Amino acid sequence: MTAISLATLDTPALLIDLDIVGRNLERMQKKADKHSATLRPHIKTHKIPELALMQTRLGALGVTVAKISEAEIMAEAGIDDIFIANQVVTEEKINRLAALAKKVQLSVGMDSIAAARRVSDIFAAAGLEIDYLIEIDSGLNRCGVSPGRDAVEFYQAINALPSLRFKGIFTHAGQVYGAGSLSEVKKLSLLESRIMAHTALAFGEVGTSPDVVSVGSTPTMKVWQGHESVNEIRPGNYIFHDAIQISLGVATVEECALSVVATVISRPARERAVIDGGSKAFSSDRGAHRKEMASGFGIVLGNKATLERLSEEHGIMSLDPDEDLDVGDRVRIIPNHACAVVNLFDRAYGIRNDEVVEEFKIAARGKSQ
Ligand SMILES: Cc1ncc(COP(=O)(O)O)c(C=O)c1O
Repeated sequence: MTAISLATLDTPALLIDLDIVGRNLERMQKKADKHSATLRPHIKTHKIPELALMQTRLGALGVTVAKISEAEIMAEAGIDDIFIANQVVTEEKINRLAALAKKVQLSVGMDSIAAARRVSDIFAAAGLEIDYLIEIDSGLNRCGVSPGRDAVEFYQAINALPSLRFKGIFTHAGQVYGAGSLSEVKKLSLLESRIMAHTALAFGEVGTSPDVVSVGSTPTMKVWQGHESVNEIRPGNYIFHDAIQISLGVATVEECALSVVATVISRPARERAVIDGGSKAFSSDRGAHRKEMASGFGIVLGNKATLERLSEEHGIMSLDPDEDLDVGDRVRIIPNHACAVVNLFDRAYGIRNDEVVEEFKIAARGKSQ
């Protein structure tokens, strides 16, 4: 790429500190290895094929995605083992699933008989089979069947369908994002694994057992101590971390790899400065399950400032009146929720020691289908 200096990069721009990314990836991979679990990172956080390949090179077996369109992008980039940790229910999407299953090792979540029948019918007509994992609701109250006997009964209801191969069970204890303390995060992490262990055991009653027992969110995995019954983990946000992870106590500013650089476009008052990025650069995310983030819409690095309000294209910062920030100056801000912010940009700039060393196309941004 032609050299771009960080100081002249047009703003607002998305920066990824590649040294921090390297450390975050290695640390989680080591944790997975130590506890004899497979790491299958969720790529909805970065949506960048090059970073997914970095994860697999370091030891991740494959990736997790939320959507078929994300899976298609990752497959195109050479990722050959993809788990769609979500429910795929419409004919159009199941046809795309079947087309993709011809190219890569694909598995998909299940929690309804209706979807299971539809997937099986379409795959059978195409002469294909697909691995499925039953989604277990471990307390998020989103998708998923109840743990224990209910999960086994669901398995019994769908497993005779001709094109479905039972591979395992998975859960995401996303309610952890509402935790009020680090000890609550630890409790939920343990509970997530225990619920899955108990459910895996229940399959013994019908003479089978899930090959894969998969858990994961970044907070529950950052504090995870391993569990003998859990053999796969699926954190996503850990590659970057963000202000939400800091507020939960599972990451530090030094572990945050993603930031937005913005320019001060107005200093209308000593205690107010306005930057050239608003909700279309930072998202309005204050943490889906959290009460208000104390720090506004992100953490302003190196300045006594709070990103207090957002219009679409303006970020309004409240400032210490002595702060030396003038029109044209730049600020760097760690966003509240990295995953939401990545989806707002076409490209991101990889930096090392504050030098731009790489430009990434965010190939799966907007891939919500
Ligand atoms: C099913 C599933 N698995 C894994 C993850 C990754 O969790 P996190 O974003 O906390 O890393 C998510 C996040 O939304 C998810 O929905």
